[in-house]
This record gives sequence, structure tokens and C-alpha cells, in this order.
Amino acid sequence: MQKNILIGVTGGIAAYKVVEVASRLKKSGANVKIIMTKHATEFVSPRTFQEITNNAVSVEMFGDAANFIHVEHISLADWADFMLIAPATANFLAKTAHGIADDLLTTTILAFDKKILVCPSMNTKMFENPATQANLSTLKARGIKILEPASGNLACGTSGKGRLPEPTEICAEIEKILSEEKILSGKKILVTAGGTVEAIDPVRYIGNRSSGRMGFEIAKVAVNFGAEVVLISGKSELEPPKNLEFIKVEAATEMREAILKHFDSVDSVIMSAAVADYRIKTPSAQKIKKSDENLTLELVKNPDILKELGGLKKNQILIGFAAETQNILEYANKKLVEKNLNFIVANDVTAEGAGFGVSTNIASIIWRNGRVESFEKMSKAALAEKIIERVANLLNR
Ligand code: C5P
Repeated sequence: MQKNILIGVTGGIAAYKVVEVASRLKKSGANVKIIMTKHATEFVSPRTFQEITNNAVSVEMFGDAANFIHVEHISLADWADFMLIAPATANFLAKTAHGIADDLLTTTILAFDKKILVCPSMNTKMFENPATQANLSTLKARGIKILEPASGNLACGTSGKGRLPEPTEICAEIEKILSEEKILSGKKILVTAGGTVEAIDPVRYIGNRSSGRMGFEIAKVAVNFGAEVVLISGKSELEPPKNLEFIKVEAATEMREAILKHFDSVDSVIMSAAVADYRIKTPSAQKIKKSDENLTLELVKNPDILKELGGLKKNQILIGFAAETQNILEYANKKLVEKNLNFIVANDVTAEGAGFGVSTNIASIIWRNGRVESFEKMSKAALAEKIIERVANLLNR
């Protein structure tokens, strides 16, 4: 592994296990540097890590003024391709979740924009405390990977969830994250997101509850996995992700045009947008004035974009979404065939923790051969990864 790995060690008893993690990474060919918090040095001597990694260990934010050539937190963040934080204490999670930068490690992590794996390790009650769980959710939502702690006997004399996973497991997770990285390099992926906006008049429209979050997460993961990404989005309040082509549209017809412009040049379309099935037949050019009469709006069918792509497709991998409120698998399966998709992601939008506006989803992936993969409730970022991994497998076959 020809990578520069920066390990942040915080003050937990499991810090001793990280000596082996550093040693294994070094043996696998990685360059390893260590930042320790002051508390971590109470458990393991910086000298131990120094000997293992062959690099000076950083602890102080403002070390030896005479040697303060670089701004260390910036130079370490620039140097590293990947950051591992192990063990990560509750205090570290809380500070990082809130952007507090009061030591070298928390400052470096703020200046670091590449992949991060955090391995929390602490007493079970501390881990399960809603404050810790909320901080973990915040970090996950930012795309930071969390390796769940193992269960077993804890240093505090109790037993439960909170143990730092074994060094082999931590190294395997790092290997997985780093090898995932470029599985889409050379591929172009079109992702749609958000809800379409169908004008009634210049001020009013028919819309839907889509936040765009699922599609934005998919686009982000595709970028991280090395793809060239075009993100075509209907209405969404979210900040457009970086390093991709972002196209904002309103009506379904506009989204269709933008998609068709790109369709021939892409390897896959992931259609997570909530496209309105109907639009107003003749939107009014002026604001419709209130009157004493009822108002009837005539709706006409919108094009089914995905179905059209299903008819046009050559080698493109086509993925659809089925947001349902009943008979989920049956309806999803029907769409899978009708729209000529490779697989469809189905979810019950009325279930708690799934569907519109929330950061989690509970979904199933349905394949052409009838196979159904049902996932537990997970963050949309994590589901995005499941989807992209499967698209990459189809593209790399
Ligand atoms: O048929 P239904 O709207 O439930 O299918 C959902 C899937 O089809 C989604 O992937 C959605 O983005 C896509 N779709 C579309 N054009 C429409 C309606 C839905 O591409 N007019």
C-alpha cells in the first residue's frame, strides 16, 4: 500500500492496540505518521510509535518554536492520503462533530478533506449515550467512516459494546476503503436528484417532498470512487457537491432534455429524482387572481424519462427508484421490467427513518433475476455506497 496514512491516537486504554495497527500498515508499505493527544501519551509513549513508524510523533500544537517551519496541522493534512482515528474517545467525537479545534489532532482533522476512518472505543454507557450517538451521526452524515466497536470485556471491568476492534480488522477496513476509492475511474455517471417543479403560474407550482439528499449522496460517492459525474437536480436546498458538473433544472421536461443531452456519453444513469408524473397543461403567464369560483387545473402526463432511457439504452447501466406507500416489492418489480432497469431501489416512504427529508433510508434492491437485497435502516450516505458498489460491479464485469 503506497499511501501516506496519518493516525490520530486519542486517550483511551486501547491506544496500545494501535501500535500494532501502525506496525501492520508500515509493513504493508504505507508511510505512517502519528498525532497523539496529550491524554494518549499517558497510555503509550510517543517513542514507541516513533520507533514503529520511523517518523517523529506530533503531540504539541506549538512545539519547539525554533523548528516551527511549517504550520504543522496544515502540512500533515496535506501530506496524508487517509486519516485513521483510533481509539477515538467520546471527547474526540464531540469536539470533531462540532468543529472544535483545541489541539493538533482536532485542528488537523478540520484541515483534512480526504477519507477518514474513526474507531470509537469507550465504556458501553458512554458509547450508547445519546450525546455520543448524535455526534457519531453527525460525523457519518459528513461522510466520515465509523468502524463500530466490538462487544466484550472492557477495561473498566464491565462488558458490552465499546472495545476497539482487533488490529487485523482495522487494517482490513482501511484496505477496503482505500481500494474502493477508484473503482469508477474512467467511468461517467449521470445522477438525478431532487423533485421537479411544475409551474402553475409565475409564483405557484406543483412540487413534492423530495429533499435531493439521496441523489446528492450518490453523486458524492461516485465522485469519491473516481467517476466523472453529472448531477442533474430539481428542487433541493442542499449545497451542490464538489468536483462534479451540476445542472439545476425545474420542470420534468427540462430534466428530460438535460438528461438526453448527456445520455450517449455516460456509462450509467442513476435516476433518484422525484419526477412529477403530471404537469399543468397551460401554465398561466400571469399570477392567477383569486375569485369566488373554484379553480380547476388541467393536468397532462409528463414524459416517463426513465422508461424512455430504458428504450434508448445501449450498454448503459440504468438504476431507478421506487418510492412507494404500499405493495412495495410488487410495484417496484413491475417498474424494473417496464423501464428496462438493471436494478431498482425500493423503499416505503411512509416508514419511520425512510423516504423524504430524513437522512436515513430503509431500502431494498431488486434485481432482474428476482433477487431481493433488503437493507437495515442506514444513512443515505451508506445506502449510496451500496448502490454505487453494485453499479461499479456491473460496469467492471
Ligand atoms: O413510475 P414511478 O414514478 O414510480 O418510477 C420511479 C422511477 O422512475 C424513479 O427512478 C424516477 O426518477 C423515474 N421517473 C421518471 N420520469 C417520470 C416519473 C418517474 O424518470 N415521469
